[in-house]
Amino acid sequence: MEKIELLPLFPSAFIYCDTRPWFDEIEEDFVKYCYELKENTPKSKSLHRSNRQNSWHSPDDLLRRDEFTPYKDFLIKCISTCFNSCGENIHYKLANAWIMINSKNGYNSKHVHGGCHLSGVLWIKSKKNQGNLSFENQNTYTEHNLLENLSPKIKDDCKMHDSYTFKPISGRMVLFPSHCYHEVELNKTKEDRISLSFNIILTS
Ligand SMILES: [Fe+2]
Repeated sequence: MEKIELLPLFPSAFIYCDTRPWFDEIEEDFVKYCYELKENTPKSKSLHRSNRQNSWHSPDDLLRRDEFTPYKDFLIKCISTCFNSCGENIHYKLANAWIMINSKNGYNSKHVHGGCHLSGVLWIKSKKNQGNLSFENQNTYTEHNLLENLSPKIKDDCKMHDSYTFKPISGRMVLFPSHCYHEVELNKTKEDRISLSFNIILTS
């Protein structure tokens, strides 16, 4: 045989960016906003979804709140910039957004985001060691044996891993397909790990 190729066809689109230096301008106020939101939200209004143990999930209607406007504007600026760098005429609307505060031993169990096309996370206050965001390869089951035995070089070159993790670094943002299973690993540190999550609907 003269030519053998492994073609990584039909990949999923993940967009990873650093929102600094824009994030520098809102960072301090955003952290303050998150803590005030938690303090002012009655327990009955806090949500219980993928958040586990010492992990607080805000209501997911933040986009409709006046005091969230500066952060919504920031988010739209960042998402639009990402989309514009990837192609022309990618139109979207934000569906909902919420704050997650994972304190010591807090984590998020494996889940997907239903009813939308893309989702995202912006890390507001976090350090590399406060619990990775881990995505599962959707083909892990059907391609298990192949994925296990591919050479490390092909795995790296083609991004054909069982899972892929992002470290939670303040100011960084990831956009991902909403149907991809993901989880947030345990925050083993004493400091809070704060993030903003949101859902996006692509429109024509
Ligand atoms: Fe999620």
